[in-house]
Amino acid sequence: MCGIVGYIGKGDGAPAVIDGLKRLEYRGYDSWGIAVSESDKIKFHKQVGKIGGFELKRDLPDFGGSICIGHTRWATHGGVTEKNSHPHFSCDKKIAVVHNGIVENYQELRKELESKGHKFVSQTDTEVIAHLLEENLKHKKSKKDAVLKTLREIEGSYALGIIFAGEEILFGARKGSPLVLGVGKQEFYLGSDVPAFLKHTNKVVFLDEFQMVEISGGNYEVSDVNSGKAAKVKETKIEWDLDEAEKGGHPHFMIKEMLEQPTVIEKTISISEEELSPAVKMIEKAKNIYVVACGTALHAGIYGSYLFALENGVMMQPISAGEFPHFGSLLKKGDLVITVSQSGETADVLEAVKSAHKSGAKVLALVNVMGSSLMRAADYSLLTKAGPEICVLSTKAYVSQQAMFAMLSGALKGKVSATKKLLLKVKDDVSSILSESSRKNIAKMAKKLAKVDNIYALGRGINYSNALESCLKIKEVSYIHAEGFGGGDLKHGPIALIEKDVPVLVFAANDGVDKEIVSNAMEVKARGAEVIGISYQNNEVFEQYLPANDHGLLTPIASIVYSQLMAYYIALEKNLDPDKPRNLAKSVTVK
Ligand code: G6P
Repeated sequence: MCGIVGYIGKGDGAPAVIDGLKRLEYRGYDSWGIAVSESDKIKFHKQVGKIGGFELKRDLPDFGGSICIGHTRWATHGGVTEKNSHPHFSCDKKIAVVHNGIVENYQELRKELESKGHKFVSQTDTEVIAHLLEENLKHKKSKKDAVLKTLREIEGSYALGIIFAGEEILFGARKGSPLVLGVGKQEFYLGSDVPAFLKHTNKVVFLDEFQMVEISGGNYEVSDVNSGKAAKVKETKIEWDLDEAEKGGHPHFMIKEMLEQPTVIEKTISISEEELSPAVKMIEKAKNIYVVACGTALHAGIYGSYLFALENGVMMQPISAGEFPHFGSLLKKGDLVITVSQSGETADVLEAVKSAHKSGAKVLALVNVMGSSLMRAADYSLLTKAGPEICVLSTKAYVSQQAMFAMLSGALKGKVSATKKLLLKVKDDVSSILSESSRKNIAKMAKKLAKVDNIYALGRGINYSNALESCLKIKEVSYIHAEGFGGGDLKHGPIALIEKDVPVLVFAANDGVDKEIVSNAMEVKARGAEVIGISYQNNEVFEQYLPANDHGLLTPIASIVYSQLMAYYIALEKNLDPDKPRNLAKSVTVK
């Protein structure tokens, strides 16, 4: 939710900040803005809409400066208007602030500041930060002290970038929202995520909770916000290469990221037995196990819970992180919470970690972003190694999470190398599902699918998560109503929705429940549905058949790729941007 970028150095920061914002657009894209510090004022530009098509040289040729901040917005407080877009300013317009997060006490602060004469121009929570800082500057000796005081007075969450007119200084700070410092040669960057500045440097410092960074005079210093004292930090080298964060000639990140899936599976399964071992021990020792995640990651967690039940007889209860607060207090010492997250920054997931730790439970994370808040908060993490995922829809991260669950489940029964071998076969199938001829076939199917109002999917057992995930992909990107059901649940309501020609995807694996799911397919077909079978073998009930080779309980890892492609081509058919579906943000850092 919202992305922030900052630059300070010898060069012109505006091109780097605009480029960074474009890379962070997946975090929010309803409006954007940029500001630079000049000798006596702050120059800025704000615009409603996506930043994608904006060209600095063409659209704003005279805009530039060596101290620069920028923001791409996903509106929370205040409508999508130029006024509400960031940066926000103090009354004297000498302080500019960009913010990702929510100032929970902004109403009280705003009232207080208004009573002191501050004039507000937006409806945002963020604007109070600029005015509060302006107020605090009147009473504090240094800018640093004023910033620290301001940060201590704000309740809620923030990743911030702050600049001052005529001052060679850039402040960043974080609490509850991610912020990374990029360390270049006499140049420094701030970004909500590493791809924002990966083009310029791969040396980074992941700011910790309640830390502030002050950058000036070619140096940076990180301080603890509570004590104001300098904090020790570690510079980390990021292994992601820039190509992974670029479209590389593909029309969209979504297709590029789907095509990366065979490589991603290889990377995920490169994990060693030693790396898996602490996670296996946590599972073995746990009294009760819960899998907590959101969206696509939750579906991977559901897949994992079925896999562990069917392969190892281990019960894991999947719970949506958004609903977890209602159960969190029931956790006990000895319980284990397995969290799954691409970004490692999803607010609900981080909340679940807090409540798990409060009750003395342990936390294991399956996470894609190294150094993310989740990775740092968890007791142990398994890095899924999908690389940067830019498209708002999660595809390669999902497949990597499923593959990691497979590795973990394999490790629990002492069969790491056998699982790796099987996953390599799954990887080959993913490659053929992604082949040009297969893509053409799905694109053809999508022409028809794009015209319908409803799509349903059915799966049982190990394929239940695929029924859910395929419909999430379709609805997110095409805005077609799509719902996945367990085959067994069909007769308990959903069958009422079945009418003539409605497409129903049916997932079947060679897992002992395939006869039941075929019966469910018959039931919907008898009511007029058009059944698309994604199965290890064809059946007369399938109007259309997409082959998913038999890899037992690992079959769904390949077969989901069909629905990802379907979702993509339906979006193209409908002329929609698959990378940035309306209203969605990739990283939901607000509760
Ligand atoms: C949002 C995104 C989903 C994503 C979910 C969890 O809802 O739109 O695509 O699956 O967050 O994100 P995470 O980063 O925790 O995996």
